[in-house]
Amino acid sequence: MTNKFKEIKERESKLLCNTYGRYPLAVSKAKDCRLYDLEGEEYLDFLAGIAVCSLGHSRDDLADVMAEQARKLVHVSNLFYQEPQLDLAEKLLSTCAADKVFFANSGAEANEGAIKLARRYMHAVRGEDRHEIITLEKSFHGRTLSTLTATGQEGPIKDGFSPLPDGFVTVPFNNISALRGAIGKNTAAIMIEMVQGEGGVRPLSQEYVNDIVALCKDNGLLLIVDEVQTGLCRTGRFWAHQHYGITPDIFTSAKALANGLPMGAVLCTDEAAKGFGPGSHATTFGGGAVISAVACKVVDVMIEEDMAKRADELGAFAAQETEKLRARHPDKIVGSRGVGLLFGIELSCDGSAVWNGLLEKRIVCNLTQGTILRLVPPLTVTREDILAFMEALDEVLTAL
Ligand SMILES: Cc1ncc(COP(=O)(O)O)c(C=O)c1O
Repeated sequence: MTNKFKEIKERESKLLCNTYGRYPLAVSKAKDCRLYDLEGEEYLDFLAGIAVCSLGHSRDDLADVMAEQARKLVHVSNLFYQEPQLDLAEKLLSTCAADKVFFANSGAEANEGAIKLARRYMHAVRGEDRHEIITLEKSFHGRTLSTLTATGQEGPIKDGFSPLPDGFVTVPFNNISALRGAIGKNTAAIMIEMVQGEGGVRPLSQEYVNDIVALCKDNGLLLIVDEVQTGLCRTGRFWAHQHYGITPDIFTSAKALANGLPMGAVLCTDEAAKGFGPGSHATTFGGGAVISAVACKVVDVMIEEDMAKRADELGAFAAQETEKLRARHPDKIVGSRGVGLLFGIELSCDGSAVWNGLLEKRIVCNLTQGTILRLVPPLTVTREDILAFMEALDEVLTAL
């Protein structure tokens, strides 16, 4: 550990609340799929700021848009009409079957908005006292009080925060009869991720999703899809729900939306949007001019450069290369799963040792659920980068 790094660690523990188990790396610079530490050492980035910098780090085209808009208009609040947020809304709505958008500032805030919209729709439009949201085990929806209650995980995420808000029920994953049994007279919506990211890169099956959609229809429930991690081409379609041929009533976006600037969005049908009226929901910063201008450029690049196709092809390539590695290490790799570049490698050996070994070889990725290496690189990652990852993993597993 260098003196400079030691000094940074000490400053951090004095200055910041102790909420993060940080990686032993201080990043001073990032470009495309590479991170650089304090000494300028290069790391291959298979994390992209947790599926955020999908177009790669520190892009000149986005920096230009940011700077140009910042000289014109940064913030006036949502009391005013602002064209950049309308431009962004038009672009986003052209990618899906939704009709309306509400802009927020993070994934949790977008999900919070989606939950509020579902509840208010039931009250204001249907005149029914339905407020309960059903979610799935191992889901992750955020850290605000209601999104962490919606999250189907236990442990430090929930410990010590009671009383948690009422109105959330979690059911076992991929179990349609449990879901059916959880629906009652108070149920407002079912909320799902198409591929559970934090939960271990677990895609929902087509059959399960079809059954969920049918349950929503038969019981008059809204379907909320959390696309915070899966959206914006990550899974090989612009939105992951498009793999399944479904139209959610409400879905959320964040992470990659402004390629590293904080932004979230709630997208919904005209019908669901009736739930909100003036004064019912708001946020000071949502859809600000700079961030909206950047997000417009992000959406343009994603479409022009067909990032969905790229994610799809590179995900298939990573699966093929993982299979080769599995054949070499059948006792240590169970297999791969995921969709596009939301990619998981399931290990049957010590996940932390593998993760540490990769970091020593200057490869950054994420370990989730103890044994799943979650790879969410920038979508600009190359085949050579993937091969470099696999070679490093091969060496680490051989040495284990
Ligand atoms: C599926 C999903 N929903 C919500 C969130 C919360 O997003 P944020 O950290 O921006 O609040 C995350 C973050 O990892 C996520 O993966």
